[in-house]
Amino acid sequence: MFPSSIHPYSIIQLQTVDSTNNYAASLRNQSKIQNKTVILASFQSKGKGQLSNKWQSEKDLNLLLTIFLEPKDLNIDHQFALSRLTALAIKDTVTYYLPGSASIKWPNDIFINDKKIAGILIENSISYQKIDYSIIGIGLNINQVKFENISATSFKLENEKEWDRARILEFLLHRFEHYLSMLNSDKNKLHQLFDIHLYKRKEWIQLSSLKSNDFKGMIVGTDKNGYLLVENENQEVKSFQHKEVTFS
Ligand code: BTN
Repeated sequence: MFPSSIHPYSIIQLQTVDSTNNYAASLRNQSKIQNKTVILASFQSKGKGQLSNKWQSEKDLNLLLTIFLEPKDLNIDHQFALSRLTALAIKDTVTYYLPGSASIKWPNDIFINDKKIAGILIENSISYQKIDYSIIGIGLNINQVKFENISATSFKLENEKEWDRARILEFLLHRFEHYLSMLNSDKNKLHQLFDIHLYKRKEWIQLSSLKSNDFKGMIVGTDKNGYLLVENENQEVKSFQHKEVTFS
């Protein structure tokens, strides 16, 4: 059902695995994986989400994949660029197929119609201040229609039909390749595009912060490290790391 490659990515298809990210890491430890290999699974018994959460997905219904990447000469100061390019590739894919506008809920969720349709979990290996390799895990909800979390959605929930996952994967990998070349040629453009497509950007919203009380603010973008930049009512711009601030 899935091809064995989508140029320039080779694809390894698995039935059940604990986590495609773990599988990629273990192949790497045995020197058995090459740059631009995609691990695809029908089902994960221990799918991993952000902040030690689980990522649950019914068998055969969604896209569960890991892209194994060896970026060329990428300094750790720029590691958030990998999140930016992955999020933009998924956002483009969702926008291409579904009505409504998809956006990136900082730091790395893809939203459509105020619901989460995809999540990203990137695990980097660092050596001498450079990214040696990156394990880029993507969970994209396609044909699943029941979720424990009421704020989750899928392609099928947004547009009632059965979707061809192979076509969506192909589009996603093409967009990934597009933004990967932008990472090498123009990191500033990648940064700008990411910021433009942030969920709730330039809207006054209520935020909860670990540092201070809840406050009203406006997301204005991200800094070089990927920290969220929020302007408060006194027109001061403050930066927040992942976990330091939440909003819905
Ligand atoms: C999140 O939003 O919490 C991130 C979810 C990432 C899930 C994907 S599914 C494929 C890959 N393998 C994993 O174990 N996790 C990622």
